[in-house]
Amino acid sequence: MTGSEPRPVALVTGSSRGIGLAAAEALAREGFAVALNGLPDDAELPSAVERIAAYCVPVMAAAFDVSAIAGHDSALAAIEAELGQITTLVNNAGVGVLRRGDMLEVSEESWDRCFAVNTKGMFFLSQAFARRLVARSKGALFHSIINVTSSNAVAVAEQRSEYCASKAAAAMVSKTLAVRLGREDVAVYDVQPGLIATEMTAPVIDAYRERAEEGLTLFPRVGRPEEVGALIASLAAGRLPYTTGMTIPADAGMLVPRF
Ligand SMILES: NC(=O)c1ccc[n+]([C@@H]2O[C@H](COP(=O)([O-])OP(=O)(O)OC[C@H]3O[C@@H](n4cnc5c(N)ncnc54)[C@H](OP(=O)(O)O)[C@@H]3O)[C@@H](O)[C@H]2O)c1
Repeated sequence: MTGSEPRPVALVTGSSRGIGLAAAEALAREGFAVALNGLPDDAELPSAVERIAAYCVPVMAAAFDVSAIAGHDSALAAIEAELGQITTLVNNAGVGVLRRGDMLEVSEESWDRCFAVNTKGMFFLSQAFARRLVARSKGALFHSIINVTSSNAVAVAEQRSEYCASKAAAAMVSKTLAVRLGREDVAVYDVQPGLIATEMTAPVIDAYRERAEEGLTLFPRVGRPEEVGALIASLAAGRLPYTTGMTIPADAGMLVPRF
């Protein structure tokens, strides 16, 4: 990137660790300015900021709860005041279930938490971002919303039914956003990770690894957050021209139909 070009700016939600941090790092490598996000009391956020600052791009912490809808617009305003107009929203923040188990035992609390963060938060944050985009001239930079849903938007995990339902709904939000924002020249993608080694999957990753080696995934291994991060940065950089509304499984072919 030369000094005269305007710099793209990305907000990556849930980027204090895991897939979000890896996406932030890959975006910084592409020359994006990056706003990192986690909950207001997120102890990992300062070190994540330091890590991105090493790429010599503008970076800031934007700590807010994505499920607190009333705070979205002021959070976006604060980011734009510091980094410039946001070109790219990566809706990555997500939570798993409070307790794995029989759907006959799922609590309302766990259902509401999954939907508040994984679905409602990404819907309204996208809405707040899109309202800003339609109200201004976007210039020549590529604009996109990249949603991180899950293989569980499609495939059932019997012990995590409320998570699956929240991700299936989020996948539909992606499609509706793509339809609405096509005429605004904003691309929308749905990245669906499969088995990725992060804090979220740490308690079960050994079992997943074994199943991957036995053939659950076509590449017989679990994925690394950096692999999903690189995919997200490629999309954000516009390297899939003339595409939108796409679902991109990042799952080593796990859901390819076989018999
Ligand atoms: N790992 C996988 O195999 C896998 C597979 C499919 C889909 N995914 C999806 O990929 C995304 C990232 O997952 P991950 O594995 O990287 O998870 P992770 O390691 O648990 O990281 C989750 C991130 O989201 C943040 N977060 C959670 N709730 C938030 C909220 N209400 N507001 C703002 N930030 C919040 C966390 O910050 P705090 O610590 O501050 O809460 C953290 O930075 C999630 O949407 C997940 O559902 C992951």
